[in-house]
Amino acid sequence: MSPAAASVTRRRVGILISGGGSNMAALIAAAQDPAYPAEIVCVVSNRADAGGLAKARAAGVPHVVVVDHRTHPTREDFERTVQAELEAAGVEIVALAGFMRLLTPWFIARWHDRLINIHPALLPSYKGLHTHARALADGVKIAGCTVHFVRPEMDVGPIIVQAAVPVRDDDTPETLAARVLTQEHRIYPSALARVASGAVRVARDGDGNEVVRTEGAVATEASLISPDRP
Ligand code: GRF
Repeated sequence: MSPAAASVTRRRVGILISGGGSNMAALIAAAQDPAYPAEIVCVVSNRADAGGLAKARAAGVPHVVVVDHRTHPTREDFERTVQAELEAAGVEIVALAGFMRLLTPWFIARWHDRLINIHPALLPSYKGLHTHARALADGVKIAGCTVHFVRPEMDVGPIIVQAAVPVRDDDTPETLAARVLTQEHRIYPSALARVASGAVRVARDGDGNEVVRTEGAVATEASLISPDRP
């Protein structure tokens, strides 16, 4: 381990999933570098059949649990159990990675500016589901993905990093999704590193809007990843 790696503070991260967990896997892979400023200490799935659970266990994540939302009478009951699991693991930052439950203001407030999400569109366009089919129906020429801090409104919150990809004439929702997903796996580790290391902060612009400011001009440039800038 290099001296720099030995001195890095690694924030304890919990990941919430519902499915295959390829973004989760990208974060786990990034955190295998001792110099990465976060370690993945906990994965929680609301579904027992989520493919990501086996990946998390195989990768040696110490705390991998299922919290089934169907066995909890209310959304907040479910979240209190999730919260207890996160606290038991000493989690400091939460990353949503294909987590298909809406979160209540109670949970979101508990993790204010420590809760991030990845969305397969260039927010604020195409919030919600079926982003790729809707983008193709609109004939857009650029698609992409976004990592943002979570706020109570769905797919709203200060944007940390985005990646753009071209839309091709012969794209289907599946081919476009695959192109975007490749970029999701690049930007999520990058965004988590910024949050964990304290390189980004949420500020107010002159109109009172919440925006993410990144330390230094070079870092700000890198908040957009585009096909011609690897
Ligand atoms: C990703 O496209 C993510 O952006 C969206 O759901 C998908 C999850 O994929 N929220 P995975 O479970 O990370 O493979």
